Amino acid sequence: MFWRPDGLNEKKTAGVTSRFLLAMTWGCYSGRIGNSHMRLLWTSDIHLNHVDFPTWDQWLLALCEAEADGLLITGDISESNDVYFQLRRLADAFAKPIYFVLGNHDFYGSSIARTRQQASALARELPELCYLTDSAPIAISDSVYLLGEDGWGDGTRGDYQGSPVRMQDFEQISDFHQVDRDLWQGLIQQQGQQSAARVRAKLSSVPDSAQTIYVATHVPPFCEACWYQGRTTDENWAPFFVCGQVGDALLDYAAEHPHIKLVVLCGHTHYRGTAEMLPNLVVHTAAAEYAQPEIESSLEIH
Ligand SMILES: [Fe+2]
Ligand SMILES: [Fe+2]
Repeated sequence: MFWRPDGLNEKKTAGVTSRFLLAMTWGCYSGRIGNSHMRLLWTSDIHLNHVDFPTWDQWLLALCEAEADGLLITGDISESNDVYFQLRRLADAFAKPIYFVLGNHDFYGSSIARTRQQASALARELPELCYLTDSAPIAISDSVYLLGEDGWGDGTRGDYQGSPVRMQDFEQISDFHQVDRDLWQGLIQQQGQQSAARVRAKLSSVPDSAQTIYVATHVPPFCEACWYQGRTTDENWAPFFVCGQVGDALLDYAAEHPHIKLVVLCGHTHYRGTAEMLPNLVVHTAAAEYAQPEIESSLEIH
């Protein structure tokens, strides 16, 4: 099945939903963009609930004036129901393909499952939106693919038990605040496990003829990609700022496919940095500042 950003009919097939529910059964890539070259604006952690209207207008103007083919957002779009309002507003105003994953803040005020279901439903309704977590890999050309996954700080790196850090997530997301705190570590590990399973399944559905795969995710998959003020994370923050199981999936795939380059784009820490994990695996982490959404970079994909 082919999916195009402008292909409303094909996108609205029931297959999109079933692929999400049966996350391990990604059969093949969902579609070719149609051009052999694409310029995507990449932004992350825009936290639009903190942005006033004049600033939002300026940001949108910058997006439009860049004359790109689409926008990629690596999570933390807003919080609670405002996420859908903001996505709808963006789709309407930008009027070009918007590829996105969700970040931990996007789940605030709801549950993880319900938020993802609503994001999926909105993406099926609006042809501009593509929720990458609920999408098979997208073929941009014969050799370049784009896939995405929300990811989660999964408690598999750093020292969860010894850390004094506990995220707002545990208070703001119903999956956590409805259960005993002793269960939190298991829940975040489970989220990371599910994210990694989806990433492995999507990667395995990309043809071996691929040369480059862009992987959009919210949470850095490695400690080395978890930047804060020019340094990488310590043992206290790593459990919540690294999705180690997705990192393992990426390392395995990159080692088994040395001819394919993985370019990972993530956010979450709000500090910029690049980590070269293997000759064919690089991770770029985007900077962000509350109330001041920016364009992190313009990606020339071909
Ligand atoms: Fe953020
Ligand atoms: Fe985040």
